[in-house]
Amino acid sequence: MSGEYGAFDDAAREYVIRRPDTPLPWLNYLGQDDLFGLCTNTGGGYTFWRDARLRRLTRYRYNDAPLDSVGRYLYVRDGDTVWNPGWKPAKTPLDRYECRHGLGYTRIRGARDDVEVELCFFVPPGDDVELWAATVRNTGATTKQLRLFSYVEFCLYEALDDMTNFQSTYSLGEVEVARGGAAIFHTTGHRARRAHVTLFGCTHDVAGFDTSRDAFVGAHNGLHEAAVPLGGHATGSIAHGWNPIGAHELELELEPGESETFSFVLAYVDEGGIPSGLELLDRYAEPGAVDDAFARLQAHWDELLSRLQVSCPDPHANRMLSTWNQYQCMATFNLSRSASLFESGIGRGMGFRDSNQDVLGFVHLIPDRARQRILDLAATQLSDGTCFHQYQPLTREGNAEIGGNFLDDHLWLVVSTCAYVKETGDTSILLEPVGYADTPGSGEDLLHHLEASIGYTLAHRGPHGLPLIGHADWNDCLNLNSFSTQPNESFQTADDVEGAVAESVMIAGLFLYAAAELVRLYRQLGRDADADRIADVRAEMLAAVESEAWDGEWYVRAFDAESRPVGSRVCDEGQIYVESQAWCVLGGAGARDGRAHRALDSVHERLTTPDGIVLQQPAYSRYRAELGEIASYPPGYKENAGIFCHTNPWITLAWCRLGEAEHALATYLAICPSTREERIETYRCEPYVYAQMIAGPDAATPGEAKNSWLTGTAAWAFVSGTQGLLGIVPDYDGLRIDPCIPRTWEKFRVTRRFRGVDYEITVTNPAGLSGGVRSLRVDGNDVPGNLVPLAAGRDRISVDVVLAETRAAAAVP
Ligand code: GLC
Ligand code: GLC
Repeated sequence: MSGEYGAFDDAAREYVIRRPDTPLPWLNYLGQDDLFGLCTNTGGGYTFWRDARLRRLTRYRYNDAPLDSVGRYLYVRDGDTVWNPGWKPAKTPLDRYECRHGLGYTRIRGARDDVEVELCFFVPPGDDVELWAATVRNTGATTKQLRLFSYVEFCLYEALDDMTNFQSTYSLGEVEVARGGAAIFHTTGHRARRAHVTLFGCTHDVAGFDTSRDAFVGAHNGLHEAAVPLGGHATGSIAHGWNPIGAHELELELEPGESETFSFVLAYVDEGGIPSGLELLDRYAEPGAVDDAFARLQAHWDELLSRLQVSCPDPHANRMLSTWNQYQCMATFNLSRSASLFESGIGRGMGFRDSNQDVLGFVHLIPDRARQRILDLAATQLSDGTCFHQYQPLTREGNAEIGGNFLDDHLWLVVSTCAYVKETGDTSILLEPVGYADTPGSGEDLLHHLEASIGYTLAHRGPHGLPLIGHADWNDCLNLNSFSTQPNESFQTADDVEGAVAESVMIAGLFLYAAAELVRLYRQLGRDADADRIADVRAEMLAAVESEAWDGEWYVRAFDAESRPVGSRVCDEGQIYVESQAWCVLGGAGARDGRAHRALDSVHERLTTPDGIVLQQPAYSRYRAELGEIASYPPGYKENAGIFCHTNPWITLAWCRLGEAEHALATYLAICPSTREERIETYRCEPYVYAQMIAGPDAATPGEAKNSWLTGTAAWAFVSGTQGLLGIVPDYDGLRIDPCIPRTWEKFRVTRRFRGVDYEITVTNPAGLSGGVRSLRVDGNDVPGNLVPLAAGRDRISVDVVLAETRAAAAVP
C-alpha cells in the first residue's frame, strides 16, 4: 500500500518520499542527546544545541514563501546547470529524487544528467556533531567536471534576538576560517562571555569558501538563484556583522562510473574553541569514521526498539507501535512542544503537563532519562502544589512569561511518577530530595510533591465541590475566569477575575485517576493508612462528580464563573465535550451505574467522525468572552470542535476499560497517520507521525491535519495501543496481560523488555472473543490470574495467553 508522495519501507524502518513537492514539508528529527536538527524532505530546517531558543546554531525563516526555504543545502554545478539533490532551493527538475526519513537520519538522493548525489544527514549518539555524508557518482559515459557548493546560514545563537533585534545583530556576527576554507567557524559571542563556536567543516579539499550571505547569495536574490553557484566560483568573503554563513566550494572530476565520498561536519563546540573544532573535523575525516558513526546510530535504535515489538493482524498498528509511534515519543520527550514546523523553538520550553504525559510513551525506552525528567519537572513545582507551566531546558528554570495557574498541571506529576515506578520498580525516586521552586534550599522529596499535587486540588474547590479550573485546565483555551475583550492581550497570559470560582470536571476526573494511582502506590509501599486517607478523599470527589456533574447522558465539562454548566444539554453550543467523558470514565466514575457506558455512547453518537473524535459539539459560532480562547477559533479548528487528536486515545483507553474492543480499535485507527496515505491530499501532514489536530466536520477543510510531531497524542496513542488494546501493562509486581481486541483477531505477539527481562508474549483467541484471560503459561507453567510475575535474573521468558470469557470491565483500584 502506498500513497502518491511516498510509502513505508517497513523492513528498513524508513518512510520513502518519492516526490519533493509534498503537500507540506515532511519533517524528520536528527539527534538524540544534546544536538538536534530538524530536517525536511528537501533538506530544510535548522540545528540547535540543547535549547532551540538559547543555542540556535543555524537559522530558519518561519512561515516563509516559499515554504521551508532555508536549510542544509548542497548546490551541484554541472556545466551551466545548477541543481540541488533535495530539489530545493534551486528547484531545477531532477531525473530522480528520493528521500528516506529513517530513525535519526534522513537520506536524500537526487540525480540529474548522469550525476547522482546522495546526502545522509544524521547526528551520531554521544557527539555534538551533525554529519552530512555525501556521495557523488558519475553514472554516465563521459567525464564529469563538477563544482559543489555547500550552504548553511548561521543563527546568532539567541533565536529570538536573531529574528527581531537587527539593530544589534547586524553588527554582531563574526567568523574565522581555517585550512583554506575547509573549516569555517562561526564565532559570534566569542569575545563576550562564551568561548563556544560552531564549526561547519568539510573533509574534502576545498577550492574556496564564503561566509557572507550577501556575497554568496546576493543581497536581492533568493537562495534558488544564489550568486556564487550560478556564477561558478566562491568569493572568499569574510562576514563582518550582517548574516554569517558557511559555504564551501569543491571541485570534482569524476570518470564514468566513478564516485567520491566525503562529509560535511556541522558541530557545536561548547568548550575548547577552534582547536577542538579542528580535532573533531580530523576525527571525522579518518576513513570509516562516518560509517562507524552511522552504524552506532543504527545500533542505538535497534536496541531501543527491540524493547517493544508488535506483530498483530493490523498492519497500521504494527508499524506505528513497533516503530514510528515510539520514534515520535522520543521526539516529544526530547523537545516537548518547542521546535517543529509549527512551534518556532522560541516561544515554548518544556511544558509541565506536556512533559509529564510524554513520559508515559517514553519511560520504557530510557527509564533513567524519564527519571531525571520527572525530577526536573518536580523541581519547578511551588510549595503550594502548583507549578510553572513551562521551563527552559538549558537553565531548568520555570518561565513565568507564558502564563500560569493551569490547575490540571500538578496532577500529571502523579501520573508520570507512578508510570515510572511501575515500569522500573525503582521506588527510590520517591525519596529523592527535590524541593520547591519558590523555597530555595528546600529538599522535600518527590512523594511530598505528589501529596502537594493532590492537596492543592483538594484545597481549591468551587461551589459544586469540584476542582477550580484556574486560568484553564488541559484545554488551554477554556478560559472561564478571564472575560477577555481586549484584542491586545494574549489569552494565555490574560488576568483572571478576583476570587474566580469556575470549576473543571475534567480536572475532577483526572484527580480521581491520579488519586487512584496514589492509593495503589501507597499500598505497594505498605502504607495502608496513607492509602486509606487518599481513598477517602477520592471517594469524596467521586461523590461530587456523580451528584453535580452528570448531565443525563454525559458528564458536564465545567462550571463557569457564574456556576453555569459548560458542556451541557442546556447550552446552545458546546453541549458535549470529550475531555470530561474521557477522564471521568478513566477516573472510575459511572462504573457501577452504567453512566460510564452512557457517556461513551454519547461520545460515539455526538462526537465521533470517520476522521476521529471532535473535541466538542456543536462548535461555537461566535466569540464568547465567558469561555475565552476556545471560541476565538473558527468552527472545526483546534479546540473549537477540531479533532484534537490528543484526546482520542483517552477514549480508546476508556472503551478498553469497558471491554468494548470494536469501538476501541476504531477510535485508535481513526487518527492513525499510517491510514492516511490514500487521503493525503486532504490530510497533508506526514503519514508517519501523529498530528495535534485534524480539522473537524464544521471546518472549511475537514480532514486536514496540522501541528504534526510535537503532540501529546504520541504518548497516549502508544499507551492506548500497547496497554489498552494489546493489554500489555507494566505493573508494580509484574507484567499484566489484559487485552481488548476485536473478535476477528486470532492471535498476536508482543516482545516487551520489562525490568531487564525480554518477555515473548503470544496471545491466542480461539473462541473469537475480545478479552479475558483463560490461561496464562509462563515458560510452559500455568500461572493463575493475568499477572506475569517478575523474573529477575532471567534474560528471556515466554508467555502464552489464551483468551476466554468476555472481558470484564476493569476494576477501579
Ligand atoms: C496543546 C498544548 C497542551 C494542551 C492542548 C490543549 O497541545 O501543548 O498542553 O493541553 O494544547 O489545549
Ligand atoms: C493556543 C493553542 C493551544 C495551545 C495554547 C498555548 O491556545 O490553540 O492549543 O495549547 O495556545 O500555546
